Amino acid sequence: MLFKTRSAAVYGIDANIIDVEVDFSGVKTNEEQFATVGLPDAAVRESRDRVRSAIKNSGFDLPPTRITINLAPADLKKEGSGFDLPIAIGILGAYGGLSIRDVSDFVLVGELGLDGSLRAVQGMLPIAIAARTAGIRNLVIPEANAREAAVVDGVNVYPVRSLLEVRELLNSADPGPIIANPLVVDSRTLLGETLDLGPDFSDVRGQHVAKRALEVAAAGGHNILMIGPPGSGKTMLAKRLPSILAPLRFEEALETTKIHSVAGVLNTEEGLVTHRPFRSPHHTISDAGLIGGGMVPRPGEVSLANNGVLFLDELPEFPRNVLEVLRQPLEDGIVTISRAAMSLTFPARFMLAAAMNPCPCGYFNDKSRDCMCTPPMIQRYVSKVSGPLLDRIDIHIEVPAVQYKELRGGSAAEGSAEIRTRVLAARERQHARFLEAGARTKGSSRATSRAVYANAQMTTQQIRIHCELASDAERLLERAMQQQGLSARAHDRILKVARTIADLENADSIAVKHIAEAIQYRTLDRSYWA
Ligand SMILES: Nc1ncnc2c1ncn2[C@@H]1O[C@H](COP(=O)(O)OP(=O)(O)OP(=O)(O)O)[C@@H](O)[C@H]1O
Ligand SMILES: [Mg+2]
Repeated sequence: MLFKTRSAAVYGIDANIIDVEVDFSGVKTNEEQFATVGLPDAAVRESRDRVRSAIKNSGFDLPPTRITINLAPADLKKEGSGFDLPIAIGILGAYGGLSIRDVSDFVLVGELGLDGSLRAVQGMLPIAIAARTAGIRNLVIPEANAREAAVVDGVNVYPVRSLLEVRELLNSADPGPIIANPLVVDSRTLLGETLDLGPDFSDVRGQHVAKRALEVAAAGGHNILMIGPPGSGKTMLAKRLPSILAPLRFEEALETTKIHSVAGVLNTEEGLVTHRPFRSPHHTISDAGLIGGGMVPRPGEVSLANNGVLFLDELPEFPRNVLEVLRQPLEDGIVTISRAAMSLTFPARFMLAAAMNPCPCGYFNDKSRDCMCTPPMIQRYVSKVSGPLLDRIDIHIEVPAVQYKELRGGSAAEGSAEIRTRVLAARERQHARFLEAGARTKGSSRATSRAVYANAQMTTQQIRIHCELASDAERLLERAMQQQGLSARAHDRILKVARTIADLENADSIAVKHIAEAIQYRTLDRSYWA
């Protein structure tokens, strides 16, 4: 007897619906024999042992016959333990243990424990999206995955704890309506909550230039590099970035959640990534850890930081080959990982924040202490950060040591809430502009291109449209380009930063002072990397 169930498999950050067919041959054997076909990987093959125990320990008998399990389509690679549940239900159905005969309107996913309990699997959000896309209305999944799946509207999510519960649920679906209440989460209300944003900028004394630069970076999503002596507050400043970032838009949150979901780092309580991620990997990280990798590629830190911040502290301490792999994601906002088995692309659109000392001893250019390093030592040190990487960083700033007077000064520094209000207003301006421009060019533009939410994400074409310069600003930029030998990339990035500075001022057009400030953020590298 043949019984069909449906499940799903994750590829990269997307999922495909997989049909799971179970057939009994009817030929009596000494004990039950499993045959799995349809390109199953090792984990799927292991699943038969779990399924066998789970079924028996749930109180069912398995007939001693040959059981054939087919996962279709056969040409898609399947991995993971989520097929346990559809296989077990398929066996029960084929054996006559279910009153319902047609479960094609259900997607079943979950790993079985030997006692028949259900365990969470990775990538449930993409699976829920795949079910909705395929028009399958019901999703039966482990309780621990439920909130994550319930973020998707249009699918009924049934959280279950054991194989027996699933059987009961399916049997109750036929002939009458389903009794259990599906879980529904209004995920949009989770966004924008500002309860705990971490440490506050009011703790940082002085450093007005650095704070201003971080505000600009946060407002437009620009990359930023801080250079300064030990103890000047670089790490302290960077750690306060999350407190001034604009809330995620729902589409951004969904994209980031998909990545966290397939990487298995999602908080099961929340289900949705509600705040911009802030990732700060240690400099001992491998290139695979940073960019993603593994036999079946998994997302790395650059993807986990998608729509948020990737903070690299002590930048020159990172091995050069690790830093060089940042080039593709910094330019394209995606990363492609090729393995023998498959090649996958993950989103990796993040804002890079980096901090470093100017030299090995740390005091080059410091006003109060002498630097002990020789010029070749300094050169060797800074050249660990290559020209191409530096060129991709929009804002370079010096963070000098704070003076005693400032450190002990009476007036309190501005808090994160005020800065955040300005950042938010600037983001809203950007969003409105891109929406309006998108509506105008509808039809002509490719529908597949990725939505743009911040100035740093503008394409060359968008820069031309949104960053027009008056003639005096044009002349200033031209002079700076010639005098400093800036690249075409630097030119584009200066325009984007200038656009953000204008947005922070609520100005429609980019004026000379906006361009001047943006250029100033590109001058520092000359004095260290010259
Ligand atoms: N501007 C400041 N206002 C108040 N406290 C400060 C400031 N700068 C530094 N501090 C104090 O000094 C400590 C060290 O600062 P931080 O770790 O940010 O330095 P750093 O620039 O990252 O140094 P390093 O180059 O050695 O990593 C902070 O935890 C804080 O207590
Ligand atoms: Mg530090």
